[in-house]
Amino acid sequence: MRPSVRILSLLFLMFLVAACDKDKNNRGYVYFPDMANSPAYKTYSENPVFEDGSTMRLPADGTIPRGFTPYPYGSKSLEEQTRAGIELKNPIDATPDVLAEGKRQYQIFCIDCHGEFGDGNGHLFTSKMFPAKPRNLIDDYLKAKPDGEIFHVITRGSAAGLMGPHGGQIPAEKRWMIVHYVRELAGK
Ligand code: HEC
Repeated sequence: MRPSVRILSLLFLMFLVAACDKDKNNRGYVYFPDMANSPAYKTYSENPVFEDGSTMRLPADGTIPRGFTPYPYGSKSLEEQTRAGIELKNPIDATPDVLAEGKRQYQIFCIDCHGEFGDGNGHLFTSKMFPAKPRNLIDDYLKAKPDGEIFHVITRGSAAGLMGPHGGQIPAEKRWMIVHYVRELAGK
């Protein structure tokens, strides 16, 4: 090998390892700083480009997640509950399978307060852990209410606020199954 080639290869090797460092957190010599340190704005950093000064953008108006059905009735309002009762119809037929699933869901989410028979004597109330008597779901008052109101109360909670909303825990389809089961409990 000619000496000039040797010197050149040595220089090349030195150049190659110049960026190496014993400290793993230090990237050593950076040949292209704009590639190593991205000029892009970080998600939560301030941003002079946008009017509101933040980098993270809101989704376009009216955007909804895939598979999500908006629920257009507000919470803690008797008017909204009544409106839901007039406008919403149970889209599912009360087949034996649907009633069985409704019962299973009821036993997970409602039985502790409203009781096995729907009369409001759930163990949270009888053990005095829950201060207010949960509504009787099988009396004439509730039998007279349309399905949509029960669906609304499960989704948004009661108008007075004593019962919390369950829309986040129970998918809409299962909420309608619970409505069917509550009707069955009431012998309707
Ligand atoms: C933590 C206890 C609790 C749980 C769990 C609960 N409820 Fe309630 N529920 C109540 C109470 C208390 C009321 C009375 C509400 C009020 O007066 O604000 C009520 C009221 C209701 C009403 C009547 C609303 C009206 O118009 O008067 C319905 C229908 C109802 N619940 C159904 C259900 C169903 C179905 C479930 C299960 C998905 C459920 N509840 C879970 C405590 C509960």
